[in-house]
Amino acid sequence: MFTPTSLIRPEIAALEAYTPILPLEVLAERLGLPVEQLVKLDANENPYGPAPRVRAALAAESHYHIYPDPEHTRLRAALAEYTGLPAAMILCGAGADELIDLILRLILTSGDVVLDCPPTFGMYRFDTEVCGGRVVEVARCADFSLDVAALETAARTHQARVVFLAAPNNPSGNPLPPEQLERLLALPLLVVVDEAYLEFAGVGQGYAPWVARYANLAVLRTFSKWAGLAGMRVGYGIFPAWLSEQLWKMKQPYNVSVAGQVAALTSLEERAWLLGNVARIVAERERLLPLLAALPYLEPQPSVANFILCRVVGRNARDLKLALEQQGILVRYYHNDLLRDYIRISIGTPAQSEALLAALSALS
Ligand SMILES: Cc1ncc(COP(=O)(O)O)c(C=O)c1O
Repeated sequence: MFTPTSLIRPEIAALEAYTPILPLEVLAERLGLPVEQLVKLDANENPYGPAPRVRAALAAESHYHIYPDPEHTRLRAALAEYTGLPAAMILCGAGADELIDLILRLILTSGDVVLDCPPTFGMYRFDTEVCGGRVVEVARCADFSLDVAALETAARTHQARVVFLAAPNNPSGNPLPPEQLERLLALPLLVVVDEAYLEFAGVGQGYAPWVARYANLAVLRTFSKWAGLAGMRVGYGIFPAWLSEQLWKMKQPYNVSVAGQVAALTSLEERAWLLGNVARIVAERERLLPLLAALPYLEPQPSVANFILCRVVGRNARDLKLALEQQGILVRYYHNDLLRDYIRISIGTPAQSEALLAALSALS
């Protein structure tokens, strides 16, 4: 007899279901608090939101009934100016997330190995598994730096095809030193440097200019963090020609919506306002770090991103996350062995920090 479930690819059937985050309204209702009272510090979003002129440009846009430009022509021209690189090297996606998936769909066939450096951003593992690839983990050192020698060995042993390196890394917030990247670029695989948090790191254009020099390097970026557009889903990548040629063939033609393109383009025009907020967030990060360190049960890690990873000492980290949640303060807790004793706190406004600090002190 025909069983429809036999149609499912075995690697997908074996995947654990993804646990989606709760929408704010649902969480607020569950906690019995108004949405405005929630202090959302759990997803590295930008507390200041989009530039005011982005809202105006979205309201003024008159072509929502027309499909978007599949080549993102105006946005890529503006990104060329922003990055200092030719538009031909740039491809936009529905968030950096879409580009991670596209790269892996291009490169992996069943069982191919991707190197992952936990603790790090979860989508590298997720998309590898969805694409039928195999994740080989090369854990970071105790200070969250990469174990480059172990990565070199694993690359050779498993003939790995791709390695993902978040720079700065999420959730640990540490940068990727150039000499480490140089060593990894000497390996026969594609190195994807994910610069989702670049603008908070004070390193100019980061590793994007290196793409012109290294044929096996791709750099990912996003408007979700610095430009406050997480809900719009716009990211971009800087790719060598051999890679972008293939990605262009594969991408959905209308992957970035009319609204997404308008919002991203206007954000680049409004970058002075937005980078002012980035500076505010960086200043708040520097103010918050010693205040967190002064609490008897937290050991915050230095960070160059818009979040701080804290080790929770002498008490249960998950209970702490839940106790904060009861007061409407949302921080990130990870249900995995490496991060069992940690919470990650996104940097909010000074007022949000004060609410967080008051709640943490009350829990001391
Ligand atoms: C390292 C890293 N890369 C990519 C993303 C996702 O970016 P986007 O919103 O553009 O899909 C995130 C979001 O948290 C991230 O932490």
